[in-house]
Amino acid sequence: MGRCGLSSFPPASQVVCASLSASVLQSHKMRSALSLGVLAISASSVVYATPKPVPVQLQARKTEKGHISGIRRRALDAIGVPLDDFFLGTDLQWFGNISVGTPPQSVSVVFDTGSQTLEFAETGCKSCTQSGKFDPSKSSTFIRGTRKETLPFATGVGVDPVVNDDYVLTIQSATDSVTVGGITLKKVSLFTIIDQTAAFNVDPFLGIQGMGSQAEGFFAALINNGLDALFSMFLTPHTVGNAELLIGGIDNSKFTGDLVYADQSGNGDWVVSSTSISVNGKTTKVLDQARDIIFDSGTSNILFSTQTAEAMYALISSDIAPFNDEPGAYGLPCDKIGDLPAVIDISFTSQDGEPFNLTIPSTELNVGPFKSDPSTCQTLINAFDGLDLVGGSVLKHYYSVWDVGNQRMGFAPNGF
Ligand SMILES: *[C@@H]1O[C@H](CO)[C@@H](O)[C@H](O)[C@H]1NC(C)=O
Ligand SMILES: *[C@@H]1O[C@H](CO)[C@@H](O)[C@H](O)[C@H]1NC(C)=O
Repeated sequence: MGRCGLSSFPPASQVVCASLSASVLQSHKMRSALSLGVLAISASSVVYATPKPVPVQLQARKTEKGHISGIRRRALDAIGVPLDDFFLGTDLQWFGNISVGTPPQSVSVVFDTGSQTLEFAETGCKSCTQSGKFDPSKSSTFIRGTRKETLPFATGVGVDPVVNDDYVLTIQSATDSVTVGGITLKKVSLFTIIDQTAAFNVDPFLGIQGMGSQAEGFFAALINNGLDALFSMFLTPHTVGNAELLIGGIDNSKFTGDLVYADQSGNGDWVVSSTSISVNGKTTKVLDQARDIIFDSGTSNILFSTQTAEAMYALISSDIAPFNDEPGAYGLPCDKIGDLPAVIDISFTSQDGEPFNLTIPSTELNVGPFKSDPSTCQTLINAFDGLDLVGGSVLKHYYSVWDVGNQRMGFAPNGF
């Protein structure tokens, strides 16, 4: 349900929203519309569901390679949340369960580093057709708030860019207990979705849990109670499975080599400054420039300004062209995409001053045929002026550490 908030952006017809790319835009919108006070999370206390959970699956996954660094010497153990890959042909979106209410009801969410809040569909939302909606009447701790917001979004599922203003959510504030990994946090501020347009119905999850660079919600409450102020993401391809969010820890068995850390400079978003972009080992004047890149786990495609996107495509194939039905998207005839080399190196500098690359392999170039023209295959870069952002197509290849406490991000090649 990565989404593209429109109201603080140009009219929908001008917005180049790349489907799941949009969660960062949603976060901007949410921040402007809802922040200050409302998002001052009141998760005041942590209570252990009885008994204190043992992170069984983490210990079972220990390998000779090393221990799991997240589960030492703290008041709270790291919490592993298994993730499902929302495949649907794109292999670029992951979601998992948290529980909300008393007794807890399972709520599936995208853990979205591009947004800040928790929101999910409730039973009162007649237009929400997802199954397993949260039922507030069955939670003794649910307290409905009065704040309602109508959020027009351009969104999509998978990588479909959506440019019509037909994605609208209505959300309402509330507080309730949230349970993650067996630990229950009381009075967490959240939003329920009380109305949504039909375009959302294909989502296999109920909502979004924001995981921005300033800890909020249950994550902030966990940190206040002794959890290490970081989380790690193991976002694997469908064929590999076992994707996991590890809250409060780093699982050394899931990556190869050492983590390389770089400073994060976003205030809410996760932002790392890049020195250069190369495609197939080549760079150009347009690409060989410093730029701040947002890391958004709620995003499938990557987004760069039109000039940057076209400079990258020019190094891949002159057959790649804008796809007129979906502004911002690009594609080429599927029979020409074949084995086109399209290795994208995004260069960064580590905290130690060493250069390192995050590399998107050629296999990510083709994100599948367009619905409106199945003979044209969409390519992974969407143009969006004013934004440089990467998501699933990068994160799928690296174990990533989102270190809130030290305001840095760590990367190492995924170990599978
Ligand atoms: C989430 O919970 C549902 C049912 O409660 C379960 O079927 C599903 O496998 C869970 N998903 C993950 C990723 O653990
Ligand atoms: C990063 O990628 C570029 C382009 O392929 C390459 O020239 C450079 O050596 C790489 N840097 C590192 C540290 O691997």
